[in-house]
Amino acid sequence: MKSNVEEMIKAKDQKYLGKLIGTEIPAKLEAQLENMDWSYLDLIDHKEQKRGTFAPLGAMELPEIAEKRDAFEEKGLQAVKECKVGAILLAGGQGTRLGFDKAKGMYNIGVTKDLYIFEQLIENLKKVTTKAEAWVPLYIMTSDKNDAQTREFFEEHDFFGYNKDFVKFFVQEMVPAVDFDGNVLMEAEDSLAMSPNGNGGWFSSLIKAGLGEDLKEKGVEWLNVFAVDNVLQQIADPVFVGATIDSGRVSGAKVVRKVDPYERVGALCLEDGKPSIIEYYELTPEMAEAKSETGSLLYGFGVILNYLFRVDKLLEIANKQMPLHIVEKKVPYLDEQGVLQKPESPNAYKFETLILDMVYLMDDCLSFEVDREKEFAPVKNATGVDSVESARELLSKNGVTL
Ligand code: UTP
Repeated sequence: MKSNVEEMIKAKDQKYLGKLIGTEIPAKLEAQLENMDWSYLDLIDHKEQKRGTFAPLGAMELPEIAEKRDAFEEKGLQAVKECKVGAILLAGGQGTRLGFDKAKGMYNIGVTKDLYIFEQLIENLKKVTTKAEAWVPLYIMTSDKNDAQTREFFEEHDFFGYNKDFVKFFVQEMVPAVDFDGNVLMEAEDSLAMSPNGNGGWFSSLIKAGLGEDLKEKGVEWLNVFAVDNVLQQIADPVFVGATIDSGRVSGAKVVRKVDPYERVGALCLEDGKPSIIEYYELTPEMAEAKSETGSLLYGFGVILNYLFRVDKLLEIANKQMPLHIVEKKVPYLDEQGVLQKPESPNAYKFETLILDMVYLMDDCLSFEVDREKEFAPVKNATGVDSVESARELLSKNGVTL
């Protein structure tokens, strides 16, 4: 066995693993290497994603939503009452930009009192469960890196008053990180540096964890998937649920009007005639600045990682291959002398599938505008844009005591 691993290390010309040749390889590392999918390395030279032809897509805008609000809300609340709506909290990311070494949801954004990100999200969800007088099943995706601490945190805080029988955790898969020359990194003498495989694998991880049965038993027909780091995230929002059901579409995406043509958010658009998301760096300046006759940006509706997916359609597309994205991140690693290095700037590629690619696979999506001042306060960075500071300001504006 060991010699196979050695052969592999030699054949792949691996810098950090090279010193293992001729030594006793720790069992954990040996197992990781035996299960290693080396085909990821081939992708480094083919980073460009093939995309189709893009065209603008409008949205159901705020005035129309305001007009139909009561009817949408009634329909959505009914679905929540009947337990047809579940929520998926994506909390498997590593939050490297924030520079907080625990799960991002454990970050305390309070000022005069403790207010954890997880707590704020649960408060947002409780607004709906109180109104509907019914619990929304909440599934929390973690990764190997933060699963234990996340579960303990929820237990310690008594699930912030949520009904724990309606909360389930599941763990996403991990993939190896490599340096820019394709060398697999090691995080310890007995382990490769593994990273969560992106937020696009959430449905397959949910199913692998056996939670498909739970959805069936509870009769969940829709899943509202959302990011951990938007503290104004409105979860299982009955108006959004009602509007999506009413539209007859199989998915919905909450969007906000971009603050400027180059804002770093993906824009909902059409790709080969189907709703899809174009990343900000994929927009040409002409596309970014293109305006309609009324003066609004044609690629001006940005996604905020709040989607609604119909479960039967998710099952139908479950086996479809999702594009793999290669992203540059800071990954701590053992150097050739075996000393742990904590890089200050990105040093490695991670391989991720992204939830935004699911929109295209769903074939159909309601683009649903929300007021960014009320629903979008991302905590991505420690300071500056989309930071703890800006999120605190927005929370205060929305009446949250910090
Ligand atoms: P981001 O794209 O902001 O990634 O995640 P991140 O890892 O949290 O942060 P940075 O880029 O390292 O600073 C958007 C959402 O997707 C989740 C995150 O937890 C967040 O809710 N996510 C991301 C996962 O659940 N798993 C992943 O592998 C990546």
